[in-house]
Amino acid sequence: MTVWYVLSAFALIMVATGLLYWVLVNGMYREDLHDLKDNLENASLLLGAPGRPHGAASPFGASRVRGHRPDIYVRVLDSNGRVLIATPGLSKQLPVPTKAELAAIPASGGTGRQILSRQGEPFLTLIAPIAGAQPRFLEIALDRAHDEFLLARYRERLWVVLGVSLVLCAIVGFLIAQGGMRPIERISRTAGRIGATTLHERISTDGLPRELRGLAETFNSMLDRLEQSFAHISQFSDDVAHELRTPINNLRGEIEVALGKRRSAEEYRDVLGSCFEECTRIARLIRTLLFLARSDTAADALQREPLEVGEELATVGAFYEAAAGEGGVRLRLESAPGLRAELDRTLLQQAIGNLISNALAHTPPGGAVELSARANGQGIVITVADSGCGIAPQHLPHVFERFYRIEQSRPSSQQNAGLGLAVVKSIVSRHGGRVEIESRVGEGTQVRLIFPASAPGTSEELTKS
Ligand SMILES: Nc1ncnc2c1ncn2[C@@H]1O[C@H](COP(=O)(O)OP(=O)(O)OP(=O)(O)O)[C@@H](O)[C@H]1O
Ligand SMILES: [Mg+2]
Repeated sequence: MTVWYVLSAFALIMVATGLLYWVLVNGMYREDLHDLKDNLENASLLLGAPGRPHGAASPFGASRVRGHRPDIYVRVLDSNGRVLIATPGLSKQLPVPTKAELAAIPASGGTGRQILSRQGEPFLTLIAPIAGAQPRFLEIALDRAHDEFLLARYRERLWVVLGVSLVLCAIVGFLIAQGGMRPIERISRTAGRIGATTLHERISTDGLPRELRGLAETFNSMLDRLEQSFAHISQFSDDVAHELRTPINNLRGEIEVALGKRRSAEEYRDVLGSCFEECTRIARLIRTLLFLARSDTAADALQREPLEVGEELATVGAFYEAAAGEGGVRLRLESAPGLRAELDRTLLQQAIGNLISNALAHTPPGGAVELSARANGQGIVITVADSGCGIAPQHLPHVFERFYRIEQSRPSSQQNAGLGLAVVKSIVSRHGGRVEIESRVGEGTQVRLIFPASAPGTSEELTKS
């Protein structure tokens, strides 16, 4: 940053001083030329004036035309380049123009010529023909040694100014860069300190410049999300450990009791049967957890295939027919014919199965569970509605959370892990859809799965239900 600042600032100063110098040099040259032209004109008028002999020395006095420029010299030449009259010493200093050079000079006068004298001093000369019978030329020369001296002094000072500016630019650039970097260093120090155990720390935005405040706030909101996810994950691991501990303790207890004394073959069979059931439950729980974990990372790709949604509903419904009959619940199916969608068959059946199993578990005998599918503007809507006990409003926002069970104390809830709706939500999200739930206590519950009309490609983003 410092190097770039110094380079750009110094380049600007260089350009500015160079431009000023060029303007000065040009201005001095133009002024000299102007002076010279003035003098040439006056002298030409005098020399060309009637009654005054051409070539007489009188108009020049002691070599000065106007007197106030002591560095102006004059000479009169004939067309062969012979000097007729000249300011003393001039011809020794400046070479005389050749005949060819004189012949090339237009009637209106030549342009300024910069030449070096024999002593190496810079001169500006101007030649013009004198009006008269014989061709004569008036050459007027200006010694620019003083100008050159002034310019040389100016250049010397410019170099000093440039040197000082370079040093100042470096110091200022360094201070600016340091000042600018300090808040970034502060942010990076805080960020470097934050680890898994200090996720609550935030970057203070006090005193940060406006440009960096946005960065710090983005960083802080990222930390908020990370902290939330961390809390979520550790809560989830807690729940998993807790859920696995109970059946494994049961298993151990049963085995311990069975091993306590010698038992009959019948008793051993009973214990083994009960252990087998417990193991099956643990295996199911682990399978579900694994499914949810994989869904989170979208590790398994969906096996989409064109499905007749009504047929799938009927298949799953038929599977639960017997259970519904046992519980005295009517299972009704209503689906628009020809409703097709590209979905993963196994996952769709699992989601519908979870919903029907919930509905049957919460609907008293004499009630009804209705399965329906229809298309709306957004896509395909599959609804599972029951006339059961309903869910209280305070629980409704949480039922899709993992391990959330409303009636923990109910004996049947021991059999349920509280993962059914979480799995449903995950399945629908992976299809790019969303879940909606509506419930009234004592009247019933309705869960709607909304799948988008067209498959959203490979994106399996999680949508909020
Ligand atoms: N149709 C419904 N009517 C009333 N309550 C319901 C209904 N569906 C779900 N619930 C309540 O929501 C909670 C969460 O349901 P979820 O399906 O996630 O878990 P679960 O059924 O308890 O366990 P799992 O499905 O894992 O065996 C349940 O404890 C249940 O009390
Ligand atoms: Mg369930």
